[in-house]
Amino acid sequence: MVKVGIIGVGTVGTSVAQILKDNADVISARAGVEIVVKCGVVKDLGKDRGLDINLSDNINDVLDDDEIDIVVELMGGVEEAFEVVKRALSSGKAVVTANKALLAYHRYELQDMAKDIAFEYEASVAGGIPIINALRDGLSANHIESIMGIMNGTSNYMLTEMRDEGVSYDAILKEAQDLGYAEADPTFDIGGYDAAHKLLILASIAYGIDAKPEDILIEGIENISQEDIAFAKEFGYVIKLLGIAKKDANEVELRVHACLINEEEMIAKIDGVMNAISVVGDKVGETLYYGPGAGGDATASAVIANIIDIARSGKSAPMLGFDKPLEGRLTLKATAD
Ligand code: NAP
Ligand code: HSE
Repeated sequence: MVKVGIIGVGTVGTSVAQILKDNADVISARAGVEIVVKCGVVKDLGKDRGLDINLSDNINDVLDDDEIDIVVELMGGVEEAFEVVKRALSSGKAVVTANKALLAYHRYELQDMAKDIAFEYEASVAGGIPIINALRDGLSANHIESIMGIMNGTSNYMLTEMRDEGVSYDAILKEAQDLGYAEADPTFDIGGYDAAHKLLILASIAYGIDAKPEDILIEGIENISQEDIAFAKEFGYVIKLLGIAKKDANEVELRVHACLINEEEMIAKIDGVMNAISVVGDKVGETLYYGPGAGGDATASAVIANIIDIARSGKSAPMLGFDKPLEGRLTLKATAD
């Protein structure tokens, strides 16, 4: 039996616990072992989460429990989560996280610290889409020429609803929050920072580049009005918030901003919470990844895929992307304003 401790039983953590129970038949068959949640950690023990797992409000109940094999970090934030993940790894526990903000700042350090201990984060980019697996594994024969796409479900949901329904910005944001798509602080979604965190994770895997959010151009959708969207529509365009990484000779350009896209293009047709990411490799050409970019169950699907892999093999899949910065090969093109 493999025992899991979930730190953070909110939107994603609740889905992880529920799916581990609902789909226990296929999950244990694929893992070759039964996977159970020994403890979940929350801030407020008074909230009803509709789960029949043990809950605690003390992180040490997971970190100090020798029976727990895998720590699933789903509490969010950067520095506190960093300490939690470091402590879990230093006590030899495998870690799975969906926390892109944490990874955008500390992925290389954590990867370095993990060494042979499993440290996985498929759910950190594009919710349920296995894009990290594709970049690390399926495309590993290629120089990656570009990565471009819709990487934030909340802002895409908002832009879609503003175009189709004509309802107010605040009401649509509230809907996205109620559906469990938005970050605890939705400024991350609207301001483009969440998309930037994901872009930086993908770029670090694809290029071995060590850039931080402060180093790149990040613009959000907060200044886009329904009039802008209607005006674009009149001329056959849609507005999408894109994360873009482009390699040109020895430089990589990274940026996040809203773009006008011809409505006939495939990416223009990606609506609602869906994400779509195009990756161009020098040998394979263009590949496109599409699916739900946010939400409890879709995200938990990717979290549990990592848990199953670890339970099956006892360690991380071989890291075929770059697990440390590649010195002197590619530099970041200045885009930060
Ligand atoms: P959430 O609903 O806000 O859940 C966070 C959970 O962490 C809550 O259960 C909260 O407890 C608990 N928590 C926070 N700080 C804590 C602390 N200091 N001690 C103990 N418990 C603490 O967030 P979420 O949407 O599930 O997201 C979790 C992580 O997954 C974040 O890193 C997010 O960026 C990432 N993610 C989310 C999605 C998505 O679609 N939602 C998709 C991909 C990745 P209470 O419930 O008591 O407040
Ligand atoms: N808030 C994020 C989004 C969650 O809307 O894309 C998924 O990472």
